Amino acid sequence: MKFFVDTAEVDAIAELNELGMVDGVTTNPSLIMKSGRDILEVTKEITDMVSGPVSAEVVATQADQMIEEGRKLAKIADNIAIKVPLTWDGLKACNQLTNDGFMVNVTLCFSANQALLAAKAGATFISPFIGRLDDINLDGMQLIADIRQIYDNYGYETQILAASIRTVNHAFESACIGADVMTAPPDVIKKMALHPLTDKGLESFLKDWEKTGQKIL
Ligand code: E4P
Repeated sequence: MKFFVDTAEVDAIAELNELGMVDGVTTNPSLIMKSGRDILEVTKEITDMVSGPVSAEVVATQADQMIEEGRKLAKIADNIAIKVPLTWDGLKACNQLTNDGFMVNVTLCFSANQALLAAKAGATFISPFIGRLDDINLDGMQLIADIRQIYDNYGYETQILAASIRTVNHAFESACIGADVMTAPPDVIKKMALHPLTDKGLESFLKDWEKTGQKIL
């Protein structure tokens, strides 16, 4: 499973990147706002750090303007994936930008039918939002499973990018279902390393080691 980091905070990306955990990065207008940085500047900095796809999102709502914005964002670096929303105009933009040879990430996907349309429009990635469905008492994980089944039924190559991941269970279940990629905030990725039995086991090993009076170094 590929891990994308869902942030525009360069320090957090750098920390995970040093461990080889970063296969790509996703940003959106809210994450750019949170970073307080200029979109072109911070996105360029991220593309210099990470060799995998870095998603940068358009903000226009009409297809022709989305295409124009997408082409501008794509000039930042070769590893830009242009993010467009899953609207009819977004699908038009996806199709054109894909035909131009760019990677396209279709975002704000909340149904399997939307994901089917994105695959037909040639999307490189489809981003179904798990957490936001869970927020309104719907089943975000079932959406990942439904899209996996539909894409496998017909051999679509669009990669399922499990997004809006809020918990370590979202990450685990997405991996079980077979999402190609997950994008998660840095703290969720770091929490995946935690287990109370690991902490307890380490504590008892260290206590026993102290009793031996030995040193390794
Ligand atoms: C990633 O591409 C999405 O923009 C992000 O995962 C949304 O997450 P949120 O629902 O926690 O804001």
